Amino acid sequence: MTQRPTAAIVLAAGMGTRMKSARPKVMHAVGGRPLVGHVLATLKDLNVERVVAVIGPGMDDVAKAVAPHPTVVQTERLGTGHAVLQAKDALAGFDGDILIAYGDTPFVTAEAYDRLRAARAGENPPSVVVMGFLPDDPTGYGRLIVSANGLERIVEEKDATPDERRVRLCNSGIFAVEASALWTLLAKVDKNNAKGEYYLTDIVKLAREAELKCAVVNGDEDELLGINSRADLVVAETLFQQRMRDDVIEGGATLTDPTTVYFSADTVVGQDVEIGPFVVFGPGVTIGNGVVIKSHSHIEGAKIEQGAIVGPFARLRPGAVIGPHAHVGNFVEVKNATLEAGAKANHLTYIGDARVGAGANVGAGTITANYDGFNKTFTDIGAGASIGSNSVLVAPVKIGAGAMTGAGAVVRKDVPDDALATNEGGQKTIPGFAGKYRAKKKAEKDAKKKG
Ligand code: UD1
Ligand code: MG
Repeated sequence: MTQRPTAAIVLAAGMGTRMKSARPKVMHAVGGRPLVGHVLATLKDLNVERVVAVIGPGMDDVAKAVAPHPTVVQTERLGTGHAVLQAKDALAGFDGDILIAYGDTPFVTAEAYDRLRAARAGENPPSVVVMGFLPDDPTGYGRLIVSANGLERIVEEKDATPDERRVRLCNSGIFAVEASALWTLLAKVDKNNAKGEYYLTDIVKLAREAELKCAVVNGDEDELLGINSRADLVVAETLFQQRMRDDVIEGGATLTDPTTVYFSADTVVGQDVEIGPFVVFGPGVTIGNGVVIKSHSHIEGAKIEQGAIVGPFARLRPGAVIGPHAHVGNFVEVKNATLEAGAKANHLTYIGDARVGAGANVGAGTITANYDGFNKTFTDIGAGASIGSNSVLVAPVKIGAGAMTGAGAVVRKDVPDDALATNEGGQKTIPGFAGKYRAKKKAEKDAKKKG
C-alpha cells in the first residue's frame, strides 16, 4: 500500500471554559505532558509530514508547545469548520491527505489515525473518512447517519430529530480528508444550524451532493475521551497511569504496589527495575536496567543508570545523573549533579550543581552550598573522596581525588588530592560541666515555681 503524504490539523482554539482556568485547555497536563503534547507525540509516531495547530488569540504557550510546527490563530470561535479553514493558507500547495485531530483528545493512538489513513488508500477511495464510535452515552455528540449507500451526513444533537437522536453511532470529530476536496467542501459550509456555527461535519453531506464517497472507520470510546473539565482530567490521568503501569510491568519491571506509582508520559524504564510503593516520576526520567527505586522517592528530569539504588525518600531533581551502581539514600536531594559510578550519598544530604567522582562517599548531612544569593556555583568532588558527616562544601570548590573532609568541616578552599581538610581547632572538654549546668537550671526552675 503506497501511503499518500499526510498533514494534520490540530484543533486547539477552545479556551475550555469548563476548566475554569487562566490556562488554555490543551495546556493542562496528563502524565506530566500537556494534552496537545500527547497528540503531537502520536502524530510524530505516524511520520506526518506537516502539522498545523489552530489556536485561539493570546495562546502563546500553546504556540510554544506546538513549535516548531506552525500555528494559526482563529480570532473568532465560529465552529469546527471555520477552525479547520484557518489552516488552509498554512497548507497551501499540500497535496495529500489531511488528518483532523482534536488537541483536547489525548489518547487517540497512532493505529487509530492509521486506520483512517488506510481507508484513504487504494483505488478510488472515499474522499472523506470519519472516525465513528459507540459511546455508552451518546448525549452531546454528532450522530452519523448511514444508509445502504454508506455515510450520508452527520447531524449535531441540537439539530437532530428524535429519530436521529436515537442513533448510537457518533462522530468522534476525527477525520481524514483528501486535501483539495477538504478546501472545496469547506468553502460551501454555511452556518444555518442550531448553533449558528460553521460545522466541519457538514462536509459529509456536501461531499455526497458532489458525488464523492464518504466512509466511517470504528474508534474506541476509551481512546476518544475528550477533556472538557477538571473531572475529565482526573479520569484521563487515572486511565493514563493504569496503561503506563501495565506497559512498565510488561516491559520487565517489578512494581510492589503499582497503583501507588505515578509515571510521566516520557518515563523510560529498563528491565529488571524494581520500584517500591509511593514513587512519583515527573517528566524527563530514564531508568537503566537493574535499578532499584525504594518507596517514597520523587524523581524528575533525572537519569538513573544501571544497577543504581535510589531511596527510600530520595528526591532527584532536573539534571540529576545517578551513575552505574551509585547509591542515593533517604532524605537525599540531588539537583543538576552527577554521581559517577559507585558513588554514594546515603543519608540527609543536598547535592546541587556538583560532580561526585566514581566511588566517592558523601557522609550524612553533607551540603553543597551552591547558592550565594546571586549565583549558582559548582562543587567538584574527586573520585574516591570521602566527605565527612555534616560537611558544608562552599562552592565553587574542588575536593581532590581520594581527599577527605573531617566531620562538620566548612570547606571554602580547594582540597588537593589525598589531603584532609578539617576546621577543627582542637576539642575542649570540661569535666563535670554538664552536671553543674543541669543543677543550676533545675534550681532556677524550682525558684520560679515557688515564687
Ligand atoms: C464536535 C462535533 C461533533 C462531535 C464532537 C466530538 C462539529 C460541528 N461537531 O462537537 O459532531 O461528536 O465534536 O467531540 O464538529 N474548536 C475550535 N474552534 C472552534 C470550534 C471548536 O478550535 O471554533 C475545537 C475545540 O477546541 C475542540 C474541537 O474543535 O477541540 C471540537 O469543538 P467542540 O466545541 O468541543 O465541538 P462539539 O460541540 O463537542
Ligand atoms: Mg466537544
